[in-house]
Amino acid sequence: MDKRAKGIVLAGGAGSRLRPLTNVTNKHLLPVGRKPMIFHPVEKLVGAGIEDILVVTGVEHMGAVVNLLGSGRAFKCRFTYKVQDESGGIAQALGLAEEFAAGGPTAVILGDNIFEDPLGPYLDKFMRDGGRGAHILVKKVEDPGRFGVAEMSGDRIVSIEEKPANPKSDYAVTGIYFYDAEVYSVIRKLRPSARNELEITDVNNHYISNSSMRWSPMTGWWSDAGTFESLSKVQRLVEENPPRC
Ligand code: DAU
Repeated sequence: MDKRAKGIVLAGGAGSRLRPLTNVTNKHLLPVGRKPMIFHPVEKLVGAGIEDILVVTGVEHMGAVVNLLGSGRAFKCRFTYKVQDESGGIAQALGLAEEFAAGGPTAVILGDNIFEDPLGPYLDKFMRDGGRGAHILVKKVEDPGRFGVAEMSGDRIVSIEEKPANPKSDYAVTGIYFYDAEVYSVIRKLRPSARNELEITDVNNHYISNSSMRWSPMTGWWSDAGTFESLSKVQRLVEENPPRC
């Protein structure tokens, strides 16, 4: 087993909340600042010292994604690509990474998550724990009901609810996750949710119930870019306070 962390960018899904922008292209190819959205998570991973990166996307746009990113030489990394046949959820997309992870720890970023902080210090924290269990990053937000929401008890996360109607806190679980290789056996046992997806929140709740989940607050700004409102907010944030790698 390679003890160094590898990186995973999940860039599948239908992008349905951004139609018609996503009718003929993948959400992660839309511009954020002066670059395609997917450059941002790639640059965060490379900035954290990660050299091997898996990109997961749907079959319709894999050609365009490979055309854009290439081998990784331009980013000083090596890309591996995996096709997700249908939008079966974030955990399903992550499940495709088992062979790539080769028993080692991984840093996972949702392709539409854009954030200010460098990833390196958060990854270092996870690796100081031996790269075991899971580690998530949470951020206080004004609209928690759009996200996975952490229920806190003191400084412990006791559970996460996906898009709750009555959020138990203002802390959104961001789309930046660190996992050990146990995650793949957890994913194999998942059942589809009401929206017919394998949910990353179910994966995270499994680690919480095993007492092997740790978390850190994100200090810089963070946003997804999956809706018109969040996409335009991110454009402003990137312009005013560029992401640091
Ligand atoms: O942005 C953070 C939030 O992302 C978390 O707080 C939620 O717990 C998590 O479920 C997720 O919520 P969304 O509903 O916003 O996720 P969305 O379906 O927009 O997918 C986010 C990214 O995940 C997307 O940009 C690409 C990737 N993805 C998604 C699906 C459904 C895949 O690679 N494959 C998929 O099948």
